[in-house]
Amino acid sequence: MKDKIKLPNPLKIPTLQQSIEWIINPTGFMEKAVLEYPDLFSTSTLVSVNHPQAIQKILTNDRKMFVASSKTSTILQPLIGDYSVIMVEGDRHKQQRQLLMPPFHKERMPAYSQLICNLTEKVFSQLPQNKPFQARNVLQEISLQVILEVVFGLCEGERYEKLKRLLTLITEIFKSPLSSSILFLPFLQQDLGSWSPWGKFLRQRQQIDELLYAEIAERRQQYDPERIDILSLLMAAKDEQGEPMSDRELRDELMTMLIAGHETTASAMAWGLYWIHHVPQVREKLLQELDSLGESLNPMTVARLPYLTAVCNETLRIYPVAMLTFARVTQERVELLGHQLEPGTPVVGCIYLLHHREDLYPQPKQFKPERFLERQFSPYEFMPFGGGVRRCVGDALAQLEMKLVIATILSRYQLTLFDNQPEKPHRRGVTLAPAKGVKMVMTGERVRQEERLRELSQL
Ligand code: HEM
Repeated sequence: MKDKIKLPNPLKIPTLQQSIEWIINPTGFMEKAVLEYPDLFSTSTLVSVNHPQAIQKILTNDRKMFVASSKTSTILQPLIGDYSVIMVEGDRHKQQRQLLMPPFHKERMPAYSQLICNLTEKVFSQLPQNKPFQARNVLQEISLQVILEVVFGLCEGERYEKLKRLLTLITEIFKSPLSSSILFLPFLQQDLGSWSPWGKFLRQRQQIDELLYAEIAERRQQYDPERIDILSLLMAAKDEQGEPMSDRELRDELMTMLIAGHETTASAMAWGLYWIHHVPQVREKLLQELDSLGESLNPMTVARLPYLTAVCNETLRIYPVAMLTFARVTQERVELLGHQLEPGTPVVGCIYLLHHREDLYPQPKQFKPERFLERQFSPYEFMPFGGGVRRCVGDALAQLEMKLVIATILSRYQLTLFDNQPEKPHRRGVTLAPAKGVKMVMTGERVRQEERLRELSQL
């Protein structure tokens, strides 16, 4: 039998307790672990690092000393399948990424801007006034519609309506730490009928698959080489043998993009709205900056605003929606912060702990966008989207979306938080989301100071 790999700085907590704490209270677990070993510690299965130097070594040697392995991402397999970009490695991973990237390149962003602003207007103008609503749910409607457009191009009609409803339902299954445990503990994955959580998941996945396969079949029949959405690009691609992607491969990639592309962004935007309204000075400063642009908001100018950018960065710093990078596995003996890692050791970058280091971010629990105006952080000090060969493919889209949605809402509407209770982070599947979904109330439309003065002067 192969000897078990020895991991450095093992936590003293028993293995079962580690798993339970990681599932139920991930931030508490990480904060306790870092007290035992500040820069690098090992759970029962992997090494976790949060020192920028170690993170830099991993992410700059992603294809040499380390491999961006897929074997440790099995938690997501039931949702995204075996052929997803997340589940493949090496050359295959490189090729699949190249296929997926074009719609996410910076130069494609202006094309999505108007869509994002219009959708935000549409969704928020329909909200009833003075009635509480969960911001995360409302924002998810926007992020879901955006990613559908990126993945499928123009998407209207019954099939898309059904797809939207089912994608929302399937992600709701994992909305709490307890229900997320089903992803981490395979023995809970039992189909005990449509009322059991796993049974419900399997049935909803089946319905989503049917819709995706129907769309793929229709597109194969009416192939349009002019289309530039992700599905069209994937369908046009051929491997070295000249073979196109199979339906199953297409399905797994579509599902990955749809899930990864809207859940995360919705939580990030909800956190953003929370902090802006929780810290009044932040809202004031942001409004001043937005008002300085005058009447019409040019999306690409908005996206470059320094304070808005700092607010979004601080939002992604304080509660990074993705707490960890995917695992990298050592290919040889590697030295990391004075520890010798044996070949085959899985290592993750702990984004949450990196973002809470006192030496980088003094008073890390405080929401202070100014820190991003006062200094520049390296990609190994601030990395909400990971880095190296598995760096998030949707980072530019997610950041644009956050900025435009927040700017549109703030300049058009008056919102307040429903209560003054702090919003705590909790596990939602593999991500960190606001536990109560950020309950807010819309109190009216916003009139800019100048407009109010103009109206008054005309009286
Ligand atoms: C605020 C929103 C988002 C955050 C915080 C986020 C974060 C991350 C992180 C940390 C990783 C792992 C990187 C690594 O291991 O080094 C990742 C990977 C990934 N993200 Fe995102 N993401 C977001 C939005 C999106 C969007 C909009 C898409 C669009 C489809 C997307 C698609 C992906 C994919 C496909 C991967 C896997 C890449 C690979 O395996 O090569 N994400 N993301």
